[in-house]
Amino acid sequence: MAQRLENKLAVVMGGGASAPEAGISNGQAVAITYAREGARVIVADLHLEAAEATVRMIRAEGGEAHALQADVSRHDDVKRVIGAAAERWDRLDILHNNVGIEYLGGPVDTPEEAWDRVHDVNLKSVFLACKEAIPLMERHGGGSIINVSSTASLRYAGVPYLAYNSSKAALNHVSRIIARQYAPQQIRCNVVVPGYMDTPHIRTLYRDQTPERFAEIMRERDAKCPMGRQGTCWDVARAALFLASDDAAYVTGTLLMVDGGASI
Ligand SMILES: NC(=O)c1ccc[n+]([C@@H]2O[C@H](COP(=O)([O-])OP(=O)(O)OC[C@H]3O[C@@H](n4cnc5c(N)ncnc54)[C@H](O)[C@@H]3O)[C@@H](O)[C@H]2O)c1
Repeated sequence: MAQRLENKLAVVMGGGASAPEAGISNGQAVAITYAREGARVIVADLHLEAAEATVRMIRAEGGEAHALQADVSRHDDVKRVIGAAAERWDRLDILHNNVGIEYLGGPVDTPEEAWDRVHDVNLKSVFLACKEAIPLMERHGGGSIINVSSTASLRYAGVPYLAYNSSKAALNHVSRIIARQYAPQQIRCNVVVPGYMDTPHIRTLYRDQTPERFAEIMRERDAKCPMGRQGTCWDVARAALFLASDDAAYVTGTLLMVDGGASI
């Protein structure tokens, strides 16, 4: 069967894992899935060793991948990553913006620095990556940008993550505006919107709990999902694969919910 991303060139921002001991992250699953479908992938991450771990997994399966260190909130770093794609391939088909951080708090208890950092990492990063990647995509007839949001962009999730909520809501809108502006250039821009996910990152949020309490929290999270289970990193990766591929050639500006119906 033909690979769905044959000959495609991809950059995955945040393709490492913040808690690799707890399994595969969303960013890793996406990078691995893109490579399995034939894409060559640059994996960028704040932590070089995290990017390198993903690259090793891809190479072990016979795929092609390269690791780079970058803080996606820094313009110079982002320029270097997209510049590496330009230098290596002189082309870019897929830009996947996975990085997202959160800060627990509402308006009263979120420090201004935390507000700024969350917006820099979750939102400004995408602006910077698009600033650098779009001209490269434009030169070669188009491309696909996939931004990772969250159902927290749409509604209150039971606990206040105000800066996260705000940055992800803005990310949705930024994505739609970019989609509309660049439709004539065949650059598509879409959003994957995960809901309750059982990922290593989520597990680390509860790592101080007793095993019994942890199991209870996971059962509670499963129970909040109409399908009776949380999503996995592979659910996110398969949705992103569709948006990255030519199967979605006429799909742009969409918010693709990957939440098992939890936000309805
Ligand atoms: N439960 C979930 O996992 C869940 C639910 C909804 C949405 N999301 C979204 O999914 C995305 C990521 O999920 P994940 O499970 O892969 O998270 P993760 O934390 O495991 O992985 C994110 C990667 O980004 C890297 N990173 C962090 N800050 C960075 C920076 N400034 N520059 C470059 N890299 C940086 C980390 O090192 C890590 O490797 C986020 O956008 C998050 O908001 C996750």
